[in-house]
Amino acid sequence: MTFSEQTLARFAREVAKYPADQKQSAVMACLAIVQHEQGHVSSEAETAIAAYLGMAPIAVHEVTTFYNMYNQQPLGKYKLNVCTNLPCQLRDGEKALQHVCSRLGVEPYGTTADGLFTVQPSECLGACADAPVLLVNDRQMLSFMDNARLDELIATLKAQG
Ligand code: FES
Repeated sequence: MTFSEQTLARFAREVAKYPADQKQSAVMACLAIVQHEQGHVSSEAETAIAAYLGMAPIAVHEVTTFYNMYNQQPLGKYKLNVCTNLPCQLRDGEKALQHVCSRLGVEPYGTTADGLFTVQPSECLGACADAPVLLVNDRQMLSFMDNARLDELIATLKAQG
């Protein structure tokens, strides 16, 4: 895989933030750029980033698989991560996940047939006191997501298309 000039320029801006012998420190930023542009990080993209940063491909893959914000395959337009880590489990995190899955007709990690939603459980999102919590597309954190609020969210996102 080869990256566009524009993508390479974005990579270069990230690499420039670190000393010349530590350009590997830009790996997360480069992965985020690729995901932003392509929607996910393919294994071909991992290999190309590894070559660009002078890293072993497995080292890049370890980063991609460690953080759940990196998508390793194409997902729905809206990625909904419901926290099911223990503190949230004690306050309906699992119920919230099941509710979203049943409303959308998918299993956890599934994507709706229209390509609009992917639903995933997630590890702690750092807002345990606000359970149930949900993260939309790795950016928008929503708190106290009871079933009514979950239904409202799904309706709003469906309306946005
Ligand atoms: Fe769910 Fe911390 S356990 S946000």
